[in-house]
Amino acid sequence: MNNYQANNSSFSKKIPCWYLSNGRDNLPWRKNITPYRIWISEIMLQQTQVKTVIPFFDKFINKFPSLKSLSIASEDEILALWTGLGFYRRAKNIYKAKEIIKGEFNNKFPEKFEDLIKLPGIGRSTAGAIMSIAYRKPYPILDANVKRVISRYEKIDIGQKGIEKDLWSISESFTPNKSIFEYTQGIMDLGATICSIKSPECEICPINKSCKSAFSLLKETKKTKKVKPKKEIFFTLAHSKNSFLLFRKNENSFWESLWIPFDNDHADKNLIFKKNFSKKLKKIKHALSHVDLDITIEILNYERTFELQSDVEYQWIKRNQIHNYGLPKPIKTIIEEHV
Ligand code: ADE
Repeated sequence: MNNYQANNSSFSKKIPCWYLSNGRDNLPWRKNITPYRIWISEIMLQQTQVKTVIPFFDKFINKFPSLKSLSIASEDEILALWTGLGFYRRAKNIYKAKEIIKGEFNNKFPEKFEDLIKLPGIGRSTAGAIMSIAYRKPYPILDANVKRVISRYEKIDIGQKGIEKDLWSISESFTPNKSIFEYTQGIMDLGATICSIKSPECEICPINKSCKSAFSLLKETKKTKKVKPKKEIFFTLAHSKNSFLLFRKNENSFWESLWIPFDNDHADKNLIFKKNFSKKLKKIKHALSHVDLDITIEILNYERTFELQSDVEYQWIKRNQIHNYGLPKPIKTIIEEHV
């Protein structure tokens, strides 16, 4: 029993009830529910908003409708479906996890929390979401929305050091045994809609009577945006007829394992590029979560393809095959629209 339990019964009952008439039941992962579909959606939703995820989820499921179909996918095929979604480590973790499921679980999606949490990309909250939504077992979750809902409800400052542990124990004590499916999705939806960051709508919130911050939250005035550092990158994109020379990035940083043009910062271009017969320059800006990129691409046109002395894996990829490879979004855009 912790300090918060006195206040939990109305919370745990009202949220599932609210979900039944107000939940977002049209989200694609809420139809034809399987553990596999919940897993893919939860991974995509880890760092990305619902409206962005929807078309990516649909495309992914269209190509890999089941764990069985995914089990024979290459890492490249999975990365290819991630182009534009960002945080590509998630796609690499899906690849690793499905290999483990194939090798250690006979290609059957694990049903135990203890097994789920050992899989790459699955932390306590994601495992909790899969257990509660796909298997209807009472496990707590604690994503950013849930943190906001319960910390406001209990009037806790989430900026305090070490508060994560307390928030988990509150989430645990609020998690009901009954209606867990409706509760988990309800708390996610409440956090994303009514209990939003900027303009909480306490008037229509189902738990406003017992919420310790209800009606006292000041509508947030615009925060000054943090200025992100800028990084300039210079690429050379060689192409010949309908093929593009791309290298698999093997550095442990953003875009790892994706296919990119020759990176001038990492090698001397003169060493490997022979005479080309025309060139043009393209500039494109691209925001990552932690840095704003200023990308300059020199596009070199060659009469024919050529082989290279390169330590880095490379391929001449045909235009009509580009969609099968994981490319960063700005590079894909340049190839599709400007070359
Ligand atoms: N955010 C994280 N998981 C979600 C889900 N299953 N539905 C809606 N938003 C979410």
